[in-house]
Amino acid sequence: MKLWGGRFTKPTNELVDEYTASIRFDQKLAQFDIQGSLAHVEMLAKCNIISDEDAATISKGLKVVAQKINAGEAELTEDNEDIHMNVEKLLIDEVGPVGGKLHTGRSRNDQVALDMRLYLRDALITLNQLLLNVQQSLYTQAKDNLDTVLPGYTHLQRAQPVLFGHHMMAYVFMFQRDMERLQDSWKRVNQSPLGAGALAGTSFPIDRHFVAEKLNFDGICDNSLDAVSDRDFVVEFLSNASLISVHLSRLCEELVQWSSAEFNFVELDDAFCTGSSMMPQKKNPDVAELVRGKTGRVVGNLIGMLTTLKGLPLAYNKDMQEDKEGMFDTVETLKGALALFAPMIETMDVKKENMYEAVAKDYSNATDLADYLVGKDLPFREAHAVVGQVVLHCINENKYLLDLKLEEFQEFSSLIEGDIYDVLSPKAVVNARNVAGGTARNRVEEQIEKAEKLFEASDEWIEKHAKQISVLIAE
Ligand code: ARG
Repeated sequence: MKLWGGRFTKPTNELVDEYTASIRFDQKLAQFDIQGSLAHVEMLAKCNIISDEDAATISKGLKVVAQKINAGEAELTEDNEDIHMNVEKLLIDEVGPVGGKLHTGRSRNDQVALDMRLYLRDALITLNQLLLNVQQSLYTQAKDNLDTVLPGYTHLQRAQPVLFGHHMMAYVFMFQRDMERLQDSWKRVNQSPLGAGALAGTSFPIDRHFVAEKLNFDGICDNSLDAVSDRDFVVEFLSNASLISVHLSRLCEELVQWSSAEFNFVELDDAFCTGSSMMPQKKNPDVAELVRGKTGRVVGNLIGMLTTLKGLPLAYNKDMQEDKEGMFDTVETLKGALALFAPMIETMDVKKENMYEAVAKDYSNATDLADYLVGKDLPFREAHAVVGQVVLHCINENKYLLDLKLEEFQEFSSLIEGDIYDVLSPKAVVNARNVAGGTARNRVEEQIEKAEKLFEASDEWIEKHAKQISVLIAE
């Protein structure tokens, strides 16, 4: 008989059991579910809703159930639908009918909302740490490449030279914003819905704040209907995760391009590439491609969740059970990608000479010739036109700007003098971008210093919040 079987006259159709059960995937919530139940039962005793003795029996039983589930010794069945009812059933098997007192003053609706929040809290900490590791790998490459010049691109056409360190730091700041978004979401995730009951609250004299404090929540959800219906925190997470995936995907695309024979700017370590079953010479950047490809499912999970929620009336609806697989999948997908990314970036061989060669063989110093003429008081628009002519001449002659003799330069403008060669060298071009946030070496060094401070702050955030969630259960 089902835990809720009282008002039914026949068993559910087998297909219904299979279709509606969530135990296949929500067993991931087991440890969080039991954490929540331990806090709930302690509160029930404190508020004299059940006796201390019953509470102690239930707590003990819950811990045994937790161990059994962890050890894979507990049987979780579709008959018992979801993790909440499976745990309750296992508890009753363990301690007898007194286990049936656990669910007093609680519904699966507030329980599942609680579990999702506990799960996400845990995931946020892990993801912050993994993101920080990725940032640090990029930072290390940046520090090692403060004199590595490569073409910077716009429209994927060579535009102006930049330091490879500058390029790496761009991603450090992208991932910084991603982390800050995750950290900011904490205050919305970390609110306790428990006590909202099925939808309206409960008639038992429970203490919601006590439970919230036990579980180290920052507060309680203010409205019971909202508490059981709200999945904003899931959407927000999936949205933040999508942006992380998009950032990773952009970097992946660059790694794929850079490691092609056409670019030949980096070589990914053998440990992070795979071969072809047919073409013996191949070394493929599969990890980068797959991380790029998995952006599809992460963004898909966001769209899926938004679509599920759209038009749902208050309060709980079974539709909301669809909140889980997408969120779990996104967490797992990101964890996998980020864990690979840090060592892949760290071990990447940067081919400094090839990058330099590419810069030497292009016209990305043309802006500097124009700026030089502006320095001689020629209006920028006229300077732009003059340099356009010089570049055209070079293209026709199969030359680069630095190949031109002074007399050739002077045919286009008498303002050009012998000092032009220093101005047009790749290093000079880079170091001329000496504006705050620019690619000049000292400006990149400033970014590196800034990043060090940000990393320290992230370390502190992680430590503080990891402590906050290391509650209960383990004892
Ligand atoms: N398995 C359900 C879910 O994940 C738990 C809540 C079920 N509540 C209910 N009233 N059927 O959403």
